[in-house]
Amino acid sequence: MQIPEKGLPPEQIFDFLNLVKTYDMNWKDGRMYAYVYDPGEVAMEIGRQAYMTYLVENGLDPTAFPSVLKLENDVVRMVINLLRGDENVVGNLTTGGTESILLAVKTARDWARVHKPHIQEPEMVLCQTAHHAFHKAAQYFGLKVVMTPFDPNTYRLDVEAMQQAITPNTILLVASAPAYSQGVVDPIPEVAALAQEHDLLCHVDACVGGIHLSFMRQLGYDVPPFDWTVPGVTSISTDLHKFGYCPKQASVVMYRNPELRRYQIFTSTRTTCYTLINHTILSTKSGGPAAGAWAVLNFLGQAGYRKIVAAVQDATAKMIAGVEAIEDLRVMGKPDMCLFAFTSQRLNLFQVVDAMAKRGWTVQPQFAKPNAPRNIHISVNYGNVKRVEEFLEALRQSVEEVNAKPSIQSEPLIVELKKLIESQDPHIFEKAAAMVGMQDGNLPKEMALVNTLLEAMPDEVQAQFLVEFFNQLYR
Ligand SMILES: Cc1ncc(COP(=O)(O)O)c(C=O)c1O
Repeated sequence: MQIPEKGLPPEQIFDFLNLVKTYDMNWKDGRMYAYVYDPGEVAMEIGRQAYMTYLVENGLDPTAFPSVLKLENDVVRMVINLLRGDENVVGNLTTGGTESILLAVKTARDWARVHKPHIQEPEMVLCQTAHHAFHKAAQYFGLKVVMTPFDPNTYRLDVEAMQQAITPNTILLVASAPAYSQGVVDPIPEVAALAQEHDLLCHVDACVGGIHLSFMRQLGYDVPPFDWTVPGVTSISTDLHKFGYCPKQASVVMYRNPELRRYQIFTSTRTTCYTLINHTILSTKSGGPAAGAWAVLNFLGQAGYRKIVAAVQDATAKMIAGVEAIEDLRVMGKPDMCLFAFTSQRLNLFQVVDAMAKRGWTVQPQFAKPNAPRNIHISVNYGNVKRVEEFLEALRQSVEEVNAKPSIQSEPLIVELKKLIESQDPHIFEKAAAMVGMQDGNLPKEMALVNTLLEAMPDEVQAQFLVEFFNQLYR
């Protein structure tokens, strides 16, 4: 493909964009439990317009665009106040949970270089339920991850195991509010106290829960402590583009005080180029996310968020009760907000995911791990509230359909896969892909076989397989 010699007329451009969009999953009708957080048409449009108002302004230089700085400072302070931080707490707007976490980990590493200079190989301790972004941060910034188990009944972080995992090289403890997979909040006061006792930093990943849990608390729900009122917490990440219902790329990373945040900021003066100061990872960045977030927070107001959160919690309670009422389905642990996961002893849930997809519903499979069986994850947002009964009906039908057909026999596939791995065949990935009906990076219509095979792979093989897949997908 080439850039066209002669530019296309605008109608043709927008016809094309609107056409290719129809190939995507449809989030608008409330049957998708991931990826898009829908605050309703009006709030969505306000966010969109505000974003477009600032699309071309550049957040790189606050002296050139002081209004982008003002919007960012306003947004960050609104989040800090919601999470009950004092005037010492500071923060920045980032492009998402991943960037917030990357920055918090980099900050911890650079803080430790100054305050614990004897540590050559810094470690961070986190539970197996913590998000992948911490592993990415460890890989990018050269830290060692020490993973600890969770309680197999509650899916919460095991504080004693975390305590035992602390070594003289530990610099950071991590806890989640909530962890994504089962939607439960970790025992954050205990983890933060442990950090204080050992003179460590403590990051709370409230990317998912920061906004929603705060409004649940305002509504009188019994919310486990997770915010700035917990002594010993030194940084928190909270996403606005999830349950803050703001346009994407918007998350906030916060620190207990400016002394700590200093380690986040990067400057370079050594080249012939302009003097560079970056407060987050990106340099040039659109002012759109700051304006979009500013607009949605101000448009919805606290009352608007409480209304959304109350409706979402009501829908979640009905969905959980409905799922539990289906024979052989069991909700895992006691979810603290509007994310939950359910498992089954008998059914192949990957087939249930396919049966739901056939009916127009997007639900997320999660693989079996030691102490956590294969399950289906549901994140309920405001856009899903109108579909509670239909969701349960589709799930009942899907379970019935899967019950009536033979379960996928994974054993022969796994035996074949093991042979393939042992043979050290250089074409292992093409062959494994062919076994499950993938060709040239194209996925089959039904994903149960692919998921069954992926789940059976050892972690390193699975990682390589996924890298190969994306390496083919993006040309
Ligand atoms: C608990 C948690 N933290 C961090 C992230 C990463 O967020 P993002 O996708 O915005 O980078 C996620 C994403 O689902 C998450 O669930």
